[in-house]
Amino acid sequence: MIEARPTPDFATYPWVPISIVDGVLPNVHVAWADGPDLDCYSLWLFENSRAIDPVTRESTVDPADLPEPSFLSAARRTDDGALELTWGDGVQSIVHPGWLRAVARQRHRPEAVPGPLTIWTTDMLDEPPTFDGAAVLDDTVVFGDWLRAIHAYGFARLRNTPADRAFLETLIQRIGPIRGSNFGNIFTVEARLDADSTANTGLNLGQHADLPTRETPPGFQFLHCVENTVAGGASRMTDGLAVVAELEANHSAEYEVLTTLNWVFANRAPDGDHRWIGPVIDHGQLGSQLTMRAFYPVRLAPDMSTADVPRAYDAMRILSRVAHDERFMLRSRFEPGDIIGFDNRRMLHGRDAFDPGAGSRVLTGCYVDRDDLLSRLRVLDRDALQSRPATRPATPPCNPPSNL
Ligand SMILES: [Fe+2]
Repeated sequence: MIEARPTPDFATYPWVPISIVDGVLPNVHVAWADGPDLDCYSLWLFENSRAIDPVTRESTVDPADLPEPSFLSAARRTDDGALELTWGDGVQSIVHPGWLRAVARQRHRPEAVPGPLTIWTTDMLDEPPTFDGAAVLDDTVVFGDWLRAIHAYGFARLRNTPADRAFLETLIQRIGPIRGSNFGNIFTVEARLDADSTANTGLNLGQHADLPTRETPPGFQFLHCVENTVAGGASRMTDGLAVVAELEANHSAEYEVLTTLNWVFANRAPDGDHRWIGPVIDHGQLGSQLTMRAFYPVRLAPDMSTADVPRAYDAMRILSRVAHDERFMLRSRFEPGDIIGFDNRRMLHGRDAFDPGAGSRVLTGCYVDRDDLLSRLRVLDRDALQSRPATRPATPPCNPPSNL
């Protein structure tokens, strides 16, 4: 019996025939004529062919119930370039060569689809990357391009969206779930007499990243301007990756302090008490994103030796000077209908002071976790790929087994 199992996911892959199948069981080596190759262990192939449920596309076999590695008795290339596996009970599985090739090319890794990052300075950008958002709810091309720019540059702007307070939630739900916080799901940034944060005043707001009080601060933040009649209050953005590079190159002692000495961060709300501890520049674990824990309103106490505290303050002073340096900090005015999306853990954002008595400046805002925006980008890319021819040729496999 030949089982043509679906790929172990919901993507559509181009059919790129395998040119070579060899290796010594239980290992199978596959290669393509243009270079990519992949070593596959028999049980990994079992999990990703026979064990795949066709509805959920998930592996269904608990590790304790996997067969012995020798259960794979043969592997060969079919006439049309698929991998055919013969199992100890006589069942044969066909593995899609396009899926194997994607793994061989590392396209299954988390960082593959969103693409490379562009570290920028004001020599490169004098305005945020900007897209016309007038039809963004119906235009998946603009929507996708905007999200890709947010990921690549750390920020990007939509102009001409409806300047009403309900629009942001409608748009952001197309990315994924909104991440709530102690400010609610959708928060409003405006000068108020009963301000619960420095953001809700007319004060200058130094370059910072939100919610370093959390184990994982929100990945992305969105701000939608619905009113702006004040003269000041310009939005400011600094690429944290450029700041990190500058510190590493020209302020190495301060860079070492900022990446190794910890602070306790805590919010100061009557009905909440979020706390976390970490360095100001947090490179995290292998594969995780840079997190700038730079927000003085919630930095509570040094968690370091008394002797280290002076140099910790010196280092933060240098960090702030670099973050506000005109070489790195881009200033732009919010117009009603503008939506800025930005990487809250990479970018440092701030605001010029304004006079709350001389007009109104109202932004609505929300957060989205990093995973959800990257997931939406992968699905958008998957949908775009599905418009290409990707199906298997009609000819069934019929060639004899190759040598392993
Ligand atoms: Fe902020």
